[in-house]
Amino acid sequence: MFQDSSRCIVIVGAQWGDEGKGKITDVLAEQATLVARYQGGANAGHTVLVDGEEFILHLIPSGAIVPSVKCVLGNGVVIDPWTLLEEIDELEARGIEIAERLIVSRRAHLVLPYHRLLDGARESLRGDAKIGTTKRGIGPAYRDKVSRTGVRVCELEDLSNCAGLVRAACAAANGLLASWGLEDRADPEQIMAELESIAPRIRALAGDSGATLLEELHGDGRVLLEGAQGSLLDVDHGTYPFVTSSNTTAGAAAAGVGIGPTLIDGVLGIVKAYTTRVGSGPLPTELEGHEADRLRKLGAEFGATTGRPRRPGWYDGAVVRHSAAVNGLTALAVTKLDVLDTFDEIRLGVGYTLDGAPLEAFPVRASELERVVPVYETAGGWGADTGQARAWGDLPAGARDYLERIEANAGVPIRYVSVGSARDQIVRAAIPRGA
Ligand code: GDP
Ligand code: IMO
Ligand code: MG
Repeated sequence: MFQDSSRCIVIVGAQWGDEGKGKITDVLAEQATLVARYQGGANAGHTVLVDGEEFILHLIPSGAIVPSVKCVLGNGVVIDPWTLLEEIDELEARGIEIAERLIVSRRAHLVLPYHRLLDGARESLRGDAKIGTTKRGIGPAYRDKVSRTGVRVCELEDLSNCAGLVRAACAAANGLLASWGLEDRADPEQIMAELESIAPRIRALAGDSGATLLEELHGDGRVLLEGAQGSLLDVDHGTYPFVTSSNTTAGAAAAGVGIGPTLIDGVLGIVKAYTTRVGSGPLPTELEGHEADRLRKLGAEFGATTGRPRRPGWYDGAVVRHSAAVNGLTALAVTKLDVLDTFDEIRLGVGYTLDGAPLEAFPVRASELERVVPVYETAGGWGADTGQARAWGDLPAGARDYLERIEANAGVPIRYVSVGSARDQIVRAAIPRGA
């Protein structure tokens, strides 16, 4: 992505999350000087595998494993400060020095214990209608942000003022919990005592994400803006209400770090060679029974944050076309191609019908998406190991054909194909263009 004059690239999940953003970010970080997160929080679980060592990152950008890369948590991220410090300590214990090259926006909102309490309580009250959140307090933290009752990182600079905000927020949260007939309560004094003990460490990381990025981009820097979740989990463009509580799509990247959109040169959409989703909500190409178990097992499809089994399905072209449109994708990275190596028959969703008629626009209502019938193209599998492929020509003809059909359906060029979780298992500049 950086091979031309581009300086600032957004990496965005183009399905329902877990597409392999962590792996691709790590691969591209070798050419970058700075990687920033722009939204979401510790609901994310981004896996990076380097020399057989696995790192699962929830808040810290996936560029962290490359030692020269600066890391930034933008103002659009919601930050659980205890999770952040744990992650820093864990990385440092494993020999990855991060604190000295990490900046956390002073404008970012904190996820505090009452957010987790409210997230869990709301989910249990929803019963069968639950969203299946990660229970990391994400929805309640963004709710406080837009309600203008949030506590930002900068509040840790004035703890007596911060205590007033935390007391008011706890009173509101406890009122809600009581009205729901629940006994759990948030204790503002305990929260403040715990915050006071970590405040110096957080203050030492605090800075201005926008100014840091501008300095990088006005110098010789190359920046990756790493999305979390996926486009179909975007609060506006996803399968509402079965979504997360932030804009995950590329349009949010500039606002989420504090730069202008004119500085962004490209948007790389990450797609699995099939589809998965965790939590509730429509998944038109979902597989059931034995086939689902097989794909889940081959792809190790268990959540990196919650350990929940992911729901697998065939590749859904209608989803990726919707993502291409709402993100302005300029390139695709297709991941986990190797997971399909042993399938005799592979189905590729190319569109939907609804009530027997082809559907052009992506449905707005989740209830409508529940009723669509995918239109599939079916092909024989390639029956060969792709894990060793490093160039387009190394891939079996059947796999190349499958990728070309994905590219044609999406209308976006494929630039990378990932054929295993390790850093070197990547095919770059995948499909040779004609003369
Ligand atoms: P993210 O949230 O988008 O960063 O993705 P996750 O890390 O949650 O899930 C992707 C999983 O697939 C991780 O366990 C990765 O190590 C793994 N992975 C990434 N790329 C590939 C690939 O090309 N092949 C295989 N087999 N696994 C991959
Ligand atoms: P990464 O960055 C997959 C899903 C949850 C739930 C919904 C709302 O690893 O791709 P939330 O806790 O955000 O309020 O949950 O969104 N979800 C994810 N699914 N990957 C993620 O992150 C996710 N983050 C949230 O399962 O359905
Ligand atoms: Mg993940």
